[in-house]
Amino acid sequence: MLIKTFGATVQGVDATLITIEVNSSRGCMFYLVGLPDSTIKESHQRILSALDVSGYKLPTTQLIINMAPADLRKEGSAYDLPLAIGMLASTKEIGLDKIERYLIMGELSLDGSIQPIKGALPMAIKARELDLDGFILPIQNAREAAVVNKLKVYGVAHIKEVIEFFLGKRELENTVVDTRKEFYQQQSNFEYDFSQVKGQESVKRALEVAAAGGHNLIMVGPPGSGKSMMAKCLPSILPPLSLGESLETTKIHSVAGKLTQNTSLINTRPFRSPHHSISTVAMAGGGMFPQPGEISLAHHGVLFLDELPEFTRNVLEVLRQPLEDRKITISRIRYSIEYPASFMLIASMNPCPCGFYNHPTKPCVCSSSQVQKYLNKVSGPLLDRIDIQIEIVPVSFDQISDKRPAEPSSAIQERVLKARQIQTERYKDEESVFCNAQMTPKLLAKYAQPSEDGLALLKSAMEKLNLSARAYDRILKVARTIADLDNEITVEPEHLAEAINYRNLDRDNWAK
Ligand SMILES: Nc1ncnc2c1ncn2[C@@H]1O[C@H](COP(=O)(O)OP(=O)(O)OP(=O)(O)O)[C@@H](O)[C@H]1O
Ligand SMILES: [Mg+2]
Repeated sequence: MLIKTFGATVQGVDATLITIEVNSSRGCMFYLVGLPDSTIKESHQRILSALDVSGYKLPTTQLIINMAPADLRKEGSAYDLPLAIGMLASTKEIGLDKIERYLIMGELSLDGSIQPIKGALPMAIKARELDLDGFILPIQNAREAAVVNKLKVYGVAHIKEVIEFFLGKRELENTVVDTRKEFYQQQSNFEYDFSQVKGQESVKRALEVAAAGGHNLIMVGPPGSGKSMMAKCLPSILPPLSLGESLETTKIHSVAGKLTQNTSLINTRPFRSPHHSISTVAMAGGGMFPQPGEISLAHHGVLFLDELPEFTRNVLEVLRQPLEDRKITISRIRYSIEYPASFMLIASMNPCPCGFYNHPTKPCVCSSSQVQKYLNKVSGPLLDRIDIQIEIVPVSFDQISDKRPAEPSSAIQERVLKARQIQTERYKDEESVFCNAQMTPKLLAKYAQPSEDGLALLKSAMEKLNLSARAYDRILKVARTIADLDNEITVEPEHLAEAINYRNLDRDNWAK
């Protein structure tokens, strides 16, 4: 007897329906066809054990199972549950009519309990699209899938529940998540707040500008100057996520299997800070069973690379395409997939191997060639994509022992939001430009042209400081953001002057 069940596979961040056809006939063989990988082939044994423990037995008939579409590779053990239900149904144990109306996914343990899966959210979106009656999945993933409106989501813990449901012997509980409510419960109490940072007004200002225009930023300074601390404060001044952004980010974390059982929506901007020993695959994504990497987990949030020169060159090189395109395409022999990767890059580094180059009081023991070599570990094309480069000097004892709290993040965020509103209005007709950092040369010419005085200042600064040509566009973009923070329509000399200050590493005379 031929029966069908439905599962799904995820490619990139979208799910595709997988039809599982089971045909049982006389004989006692087990065939699995349709490009399954070895983990699925092993499912036979898990299924037999799980059914056995639950008190169901598969008669010794010949089972032919086909997973369609056949040209799509199916991986992992998450098909155990739809396979098991299909196999059981093909032996007339279970009422047939309902099975085809559900998407079923879950990994089985030998005792029949159901283990969590990855990618529940995109699968739920697919189930909703296909107008199925419901999505039966591991209880651990139920809240994640329930974010999708108008879809019945049934979290289950044991295969017995599923079998009894299809036999009409029990009801399954529908998991309901109020997406809007969940989303609006945005945390506003961040762990790190700028009120804890003493002094460092100019660095805070640079971070405010970066947040206001979506600019990438690098901080260069000696150990203990507060680089890591201030980077961690950044999410508290960024604009809150929109519901659309929140869903996109949640989807990626769902595909990566990074959502906890209690999480349905990620409602704050992610802050990812991978260690410098990270591999290229972990950073960019991909691998045997393709997974999103850190750059995609940081989608709509911050990717913080502490001690930038310590990352391997390959890892840093891989950032170049996504920094430009805001997504990453991974092409391998077996697959080609795309993950979104629109993040703000915040990097930090010591100025030299000993850490004290340019330090106001401590002497640096590095030669100038050592300093240069250290900086050169970060390639030009990568630095080129970082609009704001600032030096940090540690605060004095007097400042650090000051008991008065500094300006809170909420006040800074208010200014950031105002500047962002101006940009939203300005770019409302552009397809993929949302903030100043994303301006194309055409937009730059239209919106960021300085006044006569400004041009003269820029020219003399570029000559005097020996600024490279590539710094020119960066300065204009950042100056546009500073003008927006000032609520000015034109880019004035003072805006340019501040932007020029943010090109510390670009000067030819760094480390000379
Ligand atoms: N301006 C400041 N206000 C308050 N605390 C500060 C400030 N600067 C540094 N600190 C304190 O010093 C600690 C060390 O700072 P942090 O780890 O951010 O330095 P860093 O620049 O990242 O150093 P490293 O190069 O060693 O990583 C912080 O945890 C914080 O307690
Ligand atoms: Mg640090």
